[in-house]
Formats: sequence, C-alpha cells, structure tokens
Amino acid sequence: MLTKTMTLIKQTSRILIVDDTPANVFLLEQLLKLSGYTNIVTLTDSREVLSTYQTFQPDLLLLDLKMPYLDGFDILKQLNALENEDYLSVIVITAQSDKENRLKSLELGARDFIGKPFDHTEVIMRVTNLLEIRLLHNATKENNRLLEERVTERTREIENIQLELVNKLLIAAEFRDDNTGNHILRIGQYAAVLGQLWGLDQSDCLLLSQAAMMHDIGKIGVPDGILLKPGPLTVEEMAIMKTHTQKGADILTGSAATVLQLGEVIALSHHEKWDGSGYPAGLAADAIPLEGRITAICDVFDALLSERPYKPAWTMNSTLDLMAREAGHHFDPELLQLFLDNVDRFIKIYNECTN
Ligand SMILES: [Fe+2]
Repeated sequence: MLTKTMTLIKQTSRILIVDDTPANVFLLEQLLKLSGYTNIVTLTDSREVLSTYQTFQPDLLLLDLKMPYLDGFDILKQLNALENEDYLSVIVITAQSDKENRLKSLELGARDFIGKPFDHTEVIMRVTNLLEIRLLHNATKENNRLLEERVTERTREIENIQLELVNKLLIAAEFRDDNTGNHILRIGQYAAVLGQLWGLDQSDCLLLSQAAMMHDIGKIGVPDGILLKPGPLTVEEMAIMKTHTQKGADILTGSAATVLQLGEVIALSHHEKWDGSGYPAGLAADAIPLEGRITAICDVFDALLSERPYKPAWTMNSTLDLMAREAGHHFDPELLQLFLDNVDRFIKIYNECTN
C-alpha cells in the first residue's frame, strides 16, 4: 500500500525548483529524478516564478531564499496574495540557518527547510513527506467537492418532488371542473412566457409559472352547486364564488416557501382589474401586483377559449377581440399589448396542451 502511494506520488507530483545558482538547481533536479520523480520544472530567474507557478501549478515548490530581483520572501508574499484555496506546499532551501529567517519563512507560509549543502536522503524524505500531505489535501478537497455535488443533486431531487406534490394537489383541487389539469398547466406556461416578455429573469419566470398555477386553489372551498352550475350565478352565488380568491390566499398563507408566498399573492389578486372594478380589494393599476396582472390575462384568455358548465368555448377571434377591448379596463394595457404582440406563442401553448 505504502509502495503504491509512493509510486503514485512520484508519478503524478509536479515539482518546481527555484534557485539562482544553476549548480544547485541541477543537483536537486538530479536527486529527485534519481529517486523517481519525473515532472520537474526548474527556474533560476525569480521574476518568472509567479507566472510559472500559475501555469504549472506545482504540488511542491523548492525555493531558495537569497536571490537577486525577488528573494524567497518576496516570492512567498506573491504566492500568498494569489487567490488560491490550495495548500501552499513550499520547502525553503537555504544556507542561512539562522532562526530569524526560518521564522520569517514559516510566517510567510513555508512548510519545511532544506539546508545547504544538501543531504541526499534528507532532501528526498522531506520532499516525500510534504507531497504525501499534499496528496491527502487533494483527496480531501476532491471528497468535499463530490460531497457538495451529491448534496446539490439531492436538494434538487427534493425540490422537484415538492413541486410535483404541489402540482398534484393543484390538479386535485381543480378536478371537479377540469379533470385533466390542463387549464392550470397552461396558465403556468402562459405566465412564464408573459413574465419573460415583461423582462423577468429565468428563475423568476419559473417561480411565476409555478405560483400562477395556484391561482384558483381557493375554489376547493366553493360548493359544487355554484362551481358547476350550468348557468349564470345569482348575486349571492357570485359573492360566494368570489371568495375563492381570499380562500386561496388563506390556504397558501404563512409558508416559508417563496413559491407558496407568490401563490398567495396571485390567488388574492388575479381577479383585480386595472380600472379598479375587480375583486376582492378593488385595487387599480400598479397597486395590483404584477404577478396578479399577468395571471389575469392568462386566466381570461384560457377561460374564454374553454368550454365551461355555464358557457360554450369562444373562438380565438372573439376571445382576442374582447381582450383587446379590455385594455386599460380589465387588463394592464402594457402587459396586454405584449400579450397581443406575441399571441402566437400563447395560441401554441393552448393548442399543444389541450385534451
Ligand atoms: Fe379565479
């Protein structure tokens, strides 16, 4: 096992030797090569260390202290300044065996020392020891990376399952008047497209899409006799029907999940009208949350095109005519214009996601 590790270290480790004396560089390189190391780069000009370090990315740096231009301390400072989470693996080569230089080197990140003149066995032992630590460091780093990857993957799986559950519950809530669930799926898709046309970023569009599907969840609290009535509602019945906005908000309220918080906003505001004549609060214009204004357009478009117990399906032309007339009355005129300018995209969703 030990031999295997040693072989791996010798075959894979990158070593950079920096010394302004060519004879020292040559001697160290030969020593390491004789011991089995193969991936070695040498430098005698300290000004080249930083760029070589960045491109070669050595596992170990053998660094002379006393050099012209930049000395070993300068190099250590440069390496420390690099934004690098890696374990800085440096052995300082020096004849200056005084305590002050050693302490200064340690403070600047050096891990060990090799004294001149070189003792062959000592050089190899110290190099190997540091490379073993480097190998362990790399292995730990790789394990952490894999662990993080696995956690991210599991989190995504859990989020997907949560969304799937929410969607199934929404379909269940809609089951009485739409047993396919296609209406809410289409609303989600329309809302994402209109949000994108408005300039929302991809993650906000995804959130909007999921939250818009919850707009009518409060209908679960509306009796069958009203929800499925095959004709016009009385004033009293209409008042009960209108409570689905507040009921939906009551179901969704208090959640820590952003998607449910937005769902609450949409449930409460998707029947508000731009001119203030909507319900439940009679909000007007920008006082109506953007997501509610978007969902209102998507909901009316889909509801007019669909057959309901109290009405036949409208044609595409009459649907779009009515919607155009409602600019500034029912609908946010700017949003509606975006919708009408890109209506082909919404018609495509309707056609592709219908029974
Ligand atoms: Fe509604």
